Amino acid sequence: MKIVRAADYEEMSRRAAGVIAAQVILNPASVLGLATGGTPVGAYEQLAIWHKNGDLDFSGVTSVNLDEYCGLEGTHPQSYRYFMQKNLFDHVNIPAENTHLPSGTADPAAECARYEALINSLGGIDMQLLGIGHNGHIGFNEPGPAFERDTHAVTLSAETIHANARFFVSADEVPRQALTMGMGAIMKAKRVLLVASGTEKADILDRALNGPITPEVPASILQLHPDLTVVTGGI
Ligand code: GLP
Repeated sequence: MKIVRAADYEEMSRRAAGVIAAQVILNPASVLGLATGGTPVGAYEQLAIWHKNGDLDFSGVTSVNLDEYCGLEGTHPQSYRYFMQKNLFDHVNIPAENTHLPSGTADPAAECARYEALINSLGGIDMQLLGIGHNGHIGFNEPGPAFERDTHAVTLSAETIHANARFFVSADEVPRQALTMGMGAIMKAKRVLLVASGTEKADILDRALNGPITPEVPASILQLHPDLTVVTGGI
């Protein structure tokens, strides 16, 4: 495990973007596993700047995102498809047909099977970017009795609904269910890049990286990953 301690959010974002950019430069045909949430937004902004300046080419890249809310069309402003378009895809040259997220409006069981097969057909993920939820979730792999391997539907925890309500008009509007990539695809990614910012993430990050490996803290499984880079900001 490699830990980069940046002083603040801006430095964390630049450092994380640098790791992703190096991945794309070294392997222009990379399969990038991408994440939503507030934490990676600054890194996406930096990648867009490097692309605009002519220093970074995404034309050979394929992306697979971690998760999507059930019931939201990709055009819904709180859907993760919309988030990715707004924060990254609209600003770089990843071919649109090479950007993948689970569909929140398809039949959940069929969509999970399709998404799992898609990731496998791409040969897995070269670099997976992750944030961490306040309860230790990665993607939408919530705390529970077991690590789930494959893409699956989840009922979001009260804590996650509360945490993500800031993006919605009210907590009542936060979908109760989501589809998420499972731990299998994440752990099989050749490299994992975890970003976390702010003192409110310090405790859960410490439990994830230094505590017991348990599905009650889903991110703790990353201790077993052979190529994990953690970039923190202000922690
Ligand atoms: C959501 C996403 C996660 C993300 C988490 C933390 O629940 N499904 O992938 O890591 O939020 O978000 P933030 O970075 O805003 O704290």
